[in-house]
Amino acid sequence: MTAQGTGTVAVILAAGKGTRMKSATAKILHPLAGEPMIRRIATTAARVAERSVFVVSPGADDVRIAVAAPAHRFAEQVTQRGTGDALRAALPELDGASRVLVLYGDVPLLSSATLERLLAEVPADALGLVTVQMPDPSGLGRIRRDAAGAVVGIVEERDATDAERAIREINSGIYVLPGDRLAGWLARLDADNAQGEYYLTDVVSFAVADGVQVLAVDAGDPDEVAGVNDRVQLARLERVFQRRQAEALMRSGVTLQDPDRFDLRGELVCGTDTLIDVGCVFAGRVVLGTEVRIGAHCVIEDAEIADGAVIEPFTHIRGAKVGPRASIGPFARLREGTVLAEKVKIGNFVETKKTAMGAGSKASHLAYLGDATLGADCNVGAGTITCNYDGVGKHPTTIGDGVFVGSNSTLVAPIELDDGAYVAAGSTITSRVPADSLGVGRARQRNIDGWRSPKRRRSGSGSGD
Ligand code: UD1
Ligand code: CA
Repeated sequence: MTAQGTGTVAVILAAGKGTRMKSATAKILHPLAGEPMIRRIATTAARVAERSVFVVSPGADDVRIAVAAPAHRFAEQVTQRGTGDALRAALPELDGASRVLVLYGDVPLLSSATLERLLAEVPADALGLVTVQMPDPSGLGRIRRDAAGAVVGIVEERDATDAERAIREINSGIYVLPGDRLAGWLARLDADNAQGEYYLTDVVSFAVADGVQVLAVDAGDPDEVAGVNDRVQLARLERVFQRRQAEALMRSGVTLQDPDRFDLRGELVCGTDTLIDVGCVFAGRVVLGTEVRIGAHCVIEDAEIADGAVIEPFTHIRGAKVGPRASIGPFARLREGTVLAEKVKIGNFVETKKTAMGAGSKASHLAYLGDATLGADCNVGAGTITCNYDGVGKHPTTIGDGVFVGSNSTLVAPIELDDGAYVAAGSTITSRVPADSLGVGRARQRNIDGWRSPKRRRSGSGSGD
């Protein structure tokens, strides 16, 4: 591509060691709301930039895999000699980009709105940086301004005077730089500072010296530009993020019993007047209808729950569809491929997998239904198990409408129970039960008269125990 043909390229600095995480996993792969931090920033960058270059440390294959996409390129920074050195590593991948947006891999809450503002408010030939007023600026670079209020440079805390340390306006580390100036500025960096690093921040004073306009854009919210160095900071930002999602849901008409005990690790689409009790975790993409009730401590992942359904506490749902006014749980487990029609009832300690149940069918207690299709208005008794697996393959159980399966029955698949069939309690069913028939598959009871227990026989008495 020609210089004119390329627009904004984002460079995501992510070669830092992240030692304070004390983890075998790279810091930027630690998830916030279920998604690795680096992927969050990659998504944000993709909204505003034409493509992204990730600066990673050598051998960071797991990072490359986590963000792999056709529009992504990688540059290696062999030794971590500072943010300026990191950006220098990306130079060969910039291909004459007109603007270079610098981001960090460990700033998970950055919004694309702030970046759009940065790109819009700063002319293409100027240098823009995102700053924010920090109540406690310690550890961060401070923004130096002249008497007229113009930005003249950034000073790192360890190089700062006492007066400079009192400055609350900090450098977020996010910049937009004119592409044609960048290589020249980076070549001028030296490591003549308290940390012996190549500071990217020095380009701000180079721009001022070269007569390039420097503009600061205030992010407004310190959390948005906050970096994560350890697990305490990550957990804090997680709560900030969760609180925001919770408030957005409440504003859209959902009742959260306690917004501080709510976790969404993905996407949740909700109708109005739905109620979510405390301690629930939602993951993947979950769609809840209107007037749905989710009891306390449910885990729900990639699921659709229709209007008026009730999910009682401690239920686990993954990859399932629950019909209108169904009642699920407490302590139920709906696994992948479960599709439940209107008013189905699934009670405690029932597990379903790849199972469809017609309207009004019930499995109220202690059952396993796997690879099964049930019609409408069936009743599956407590302790019923579909034996869907023979150690080699999975086999289907096909049940018609209005079937009654007595308690503690074993349905050995492949098997069919036709409309209106009955299965006697305690049966092992190995062949089809025709419509409106009773299947009995158990030994007949016999009683032995005058039987004496071994204990009674030893004591030689027939008296009571
Ligand atoms: C930097 C800024 C500081 C700013 C702060 C905001 C400099 C000199 N200072 O601080 O003004 O307030 O960010 O958080 O730029 N990285 C590399 N390779 C390196 C060093 C860093 O890829 O050699 C990456 C890190 O992975 C991280 C980012 O750059 O994503 C920032 O590094 P970090 O060490 O946290 O920033 P500081 O230099 O402390
Ligand atoms: Ca940092």
